[in-house]
Amino acid sequence: YNKKVTSMNFLSFSSPIIAIIQSILKAKRQGREVWFYFLWMTLVLPRIIFGPSRVVVSSFPLVSSRRHHSPSSSFVRWFTSESTSGSRTGLTMKSEDDVVAKMVSCSKLEECGARIREGHLVAFPTETVYGLGCHALDTEAVARVFCAKERPTTDPLIVHLNSPEQALPLWSVSEEEKECLQILMEAFWPGPLTLVAHANDTVVPPLLTADTGFVACRSPSHSLARSLIEAAGVPIAAPSANKFGHVSPTQAQHVFDDLHQEDVWIIQYKPENSCQVGVESTVVKIQWDPNTQQGSVLLLRHGAISAHQLQKSLLSITTKWQVSIRPKHTSEQTPNVAPGQNIRHYSPHCDCFMISSQKYALEEQEQSMLSQVVVIDFAGQLDYMRDSCLAYRDLSLKGNSQEASASLFETLRWSETIPNATRVYIPEIDINKN
Ligand code: TXA
Ligand code: MG
Repeated sequence: YNKKVTSMNFLSFSSPIIAIIQSILKAKRQGREVWFYFLWMTLVLPRIIFGPSRVVVSSFPLVSSRRHHSPSSSFVRWFTSESTSGSRTGLTMKSEDDVVAKMVSCSKLEECGARIREGHLVAFPTETVYGLGCHALDTEAVARVFCAKERPTTDPLIVHLNSPEQALPLWSVSEEEKECLQILMEAFWPGPLTLVAHANDTVVPPLLTADTGFVACRSPSHSLARSLIEAAGVPIAAPSANKFGHVSPTQAQHVFDDLHQEDVWIIQYKPENSCQVGVESTVVKIQWDPNTQQGSVLLLRHGAISAHQLQKSLLSITTKWQVSIRPKHTSEQTPNVAPGQNIRHYSPHCDCFMISSQKYALEEQEQSMLSQVVVIDFAGQLDYMRDSCLAYRDLSLKGNSQEASASLFETLRWSETIPNATRVYIPEIDINKN
């Protein structure tokens, strides 16, 4: 696994030209104005060609930008100006040794809120994972997040708010969709459920939604996340605060390990209380079909809240909505179809293998290989490797999936710290049993 190769697909030297042409064609097909792209080509392309060190900008032509949502933001100005902060939030690349990120304590919450309002980045704990937060309605700030994470702009961000009342203006939905959203918000907010519905595109920047026309909202239950939203006074867009493709962070130190070269403040919180769910929120997309008079709640990403729980809460009020589950992943080349569902995701630095639950006797070569293997077990399924492997941890001896989730990402990151490890083994898990 080579994380750089994945993200560099979008940042490479040849892709900007192709991406710009694709964007123009797409905009033309959709009957949109294309002046922005021509401006882009004349202002930015010469910089890409004559200044290869500034190639980071090339991740953005994939997104159309007909509107500017922040009064202070100008897409073109941002792309053509030098970074104001000295970090790679603008156009300059940094050397490996630069440390720009700052750890801050919870007592600095008001300053963190002001920093978000002003368009800068703050990483904060939620009940799921650490988020990399920015002013959700400021295109320039959202662009900084994509840049810091080295995330392709085909992968939209989640907006964090403190109440349904704050979320509703960001959506533009039918009465039926509103009813469904309200049932789910009432049942699961605040908490680890993200709701995707048609965006109100007079408010929501297209960069935030990856130009999908849909926006994702969630209301975190973590008290610090809620206080930060309150202090910022604006909705906060926040992906997980890791580099794109890497394991999500559940501690301030994990964020620092990935983003220390970025201009980001990282709020420190007691590790044992920071991200108790430990895996990301469940993501569902809500759509009403006026022809069939039926609604679909499509589960895009599994998380702490199950499809069964969602269906149960809807059925207690209406039979008009059907919960279904989307295929698990798409190839890395598929844009926009299934954001966040890339086949490579949450990837530690070593290769990961799933070991069949069928027990076979290990061959001699497999046995000797174990001296380079970190085993991350569940309910003692791989206990027979314990004495021969390099390092061993069990996520939940009792086979409790909630307990396992809480330490999964932390354990994957731990596996990266084991000297001489070349592989991680995890057991095949029967999801119907656990
Ligand atoms: O628990 C969480 O959800 C964490 C914390 C920080 O809140 N955030 C998080 O964000 O996991 P991120 O960016 O790592 O994952 C967001 C995923 C996307 O990859 C995509 O699957 C889905 O949410 N998503 C966001 N906006 C969407 C949209 N407009 N349409 C479809 N899917 C969307
Ligand atoms: Mg993520």
